[in-house]
Amino acid sequence: MRYLSFFLFVLLVGCKDASQNTAEVAPQFTSNYDEPYRLQYHFSPPAKWMNDPNGLVYNDGVYHLFYQYYPDDIVWGPMHWGHATSTDMVHWEHKPIALYPDEHGLIFSGSAVVDHNNTSGFGKDGIAPLVAIFTYHLMEGEQAGRTDYQTQGIAYSLDNGDTWTKYEGNPVIGNDGIKDFRDPKVFWDKTTEQWVMVLVAGDHAKFYRSSNLKDWIHMSDFGKDKGAHGGVWECPDLFKLRIQGSYDARWVLLISINPGAPNGGSGTQYFIGDWDGETFTTDQEEPLWIDYGTDNYAGVTYNNEPNQERLFIGWMSNWNYARNTPTEVWRSSMTLPRSLKLKEFKEGLRLTNYPYDKVDTLVYDREPVYAADAPGQVYFDSVPLNQHRIQFKAPANETTFFILSNDKREEIELGFFPQDSLMTFDRTQSGLVDFEPSFGAERHSQPFTPNGEEMDVTVYIDASSIEVFVDWGRYVFTEQIFPTIPYDEVQVVNQSKSGIRNFRIDSIPSIWK
Ligand code: FRU
Repeated sequence: MRYLSFFLFVLLVGCKDASQNTAEVAPQFTSNYDEPYRLQYHFSPPAKWMNDPNGLVYNDGVYHLFYQYYPDDIVWGPMHWGHATSTDMVHWEHKPIALYPDEHGLIFSGSAVVDHNNTSGFGKDGIAPLVAIFTYHLMEGEQAGRTDYQTQGIAYSLDNGDTWTKYEGNPVIGNDGIKDFRDPKVFWDKTTEQWVMVLVAGDHAKFYRSSNLKDWIHMSDFGKDKGAHGGVWECPDLFKLRIQGSYDARWVLLISINPGAPNGGSGTQYFIGDWDGETFTTDQEEPLWIDYGTDNYAGVTYNNEPNQERLFIGWMSNWNYARNTPTEVWRSSMTLPRSLKLKEFKEGLRLTNYPYDKVDTLVYDREPVYAADAPGQVYFDSVPLNQHRIQFKAPANETTFFILSNDKREEIELGFFPQDSLMTFDRTQSGLVDFEPSFGAERHSQPFTPNGEEMDVTVYIDASSIEVFVDWGRYVFTEQIFPTIPYDEVQVVNQSKSGIRNFRIDSIPSIWK
């Protein structure tokens, strides 16, 4: 099946535009995901450049993942929407490119909805259309020095995402001269029974409403004087979440920002507040961040998710060095799918993100590579640790180190310094780091307040990525790494030299083989 979709994909990419150099794409599809640094249980495109996840929507048994895609090179270029589908959010099937640039411009980021009531009129014979809402970026306009080159367009599909028709009335939202005006996220607001769109305009978010997905009315703005403003706001999302253990709920607004993230370059901040159908309000003063690692950007959540989950996927890279990472056939991948939750902590309400339960199905029924129940200090060095999940619990109020290393003295070090309320991630000696100066320049850090006596740590390693989750996603570092040989030693050291529990390493099979 996978080969068939590769083949179709190549055929479609190849046929669409003979003037573009696609000939070299074909042989690379036979690579079978074996290239150096190719992730084995994360989504990455078969070949070429990918950035943001787009159009995350569930419909009729299928989770769709569209993505910013340039099929002709491994650096950013004229954007298309690539496409993949999954029935479990773990295994992915490649689909033909969904949206190609047209006379209104390139296809930038956006979202997709299932128009259950056929409000758009695009439905036919009782089939509810899938409607994609995206930004058009008119290169000619930008190059001519104009400021109105980003507009919003829509397209629909009646075969669950396989083929798309652009709306002839595009663009549905024009531009009066806002330079950065993009990344519409649309959802159905059950309370007011209308479509709501949030998009970003440089330093703030704008909210619109519509009854039919074609005619949009501006309602309100948010954020000029709130949150972090070290860069341009991008890729917003707005959704309601129940507070864990309570019947109460809040609205969460995600805003990616580039540059201006706490450890440099691209990152995603969030606001917890209220939405009254027209305006988003919050009394939050300080910016909060989804992830203090430098490789989780432009993440958004699924529409129409059937299991009451708020599922999130981010692009596992950073605009500081995304174009320079040492891969050749494809460039960059997505984070693991994560479930977002609102939880109350000593320091207040926080948004946690932790791998979606289904990811664990990859390790069910497999013997652990190693498990040790109560050692004082853990050291293990028998196998390459490049496709694994490592878990342990440790006293939270003592300094703790988690180190992965290899014989070439390449290593990453995760440090917990509760006395300084600090957690750090050091990849400065992790392997290849000099492809871009900022990649390995500094240790990354985040504020850390232990939640109790013991902390729970889960680390996923996949070829060139590490995702660290502490206390079920209260503290997260998502980071790319490029060791020249796999790390094969792992050490956990707690200052008390005691109390490390439930240490366990599991190997994770490839989803591509
Ligand atoms: C975020 C972003 C979006 C834009 C897209 C272009 O990474 O800059 O704002 O729509 O990428 O590829």
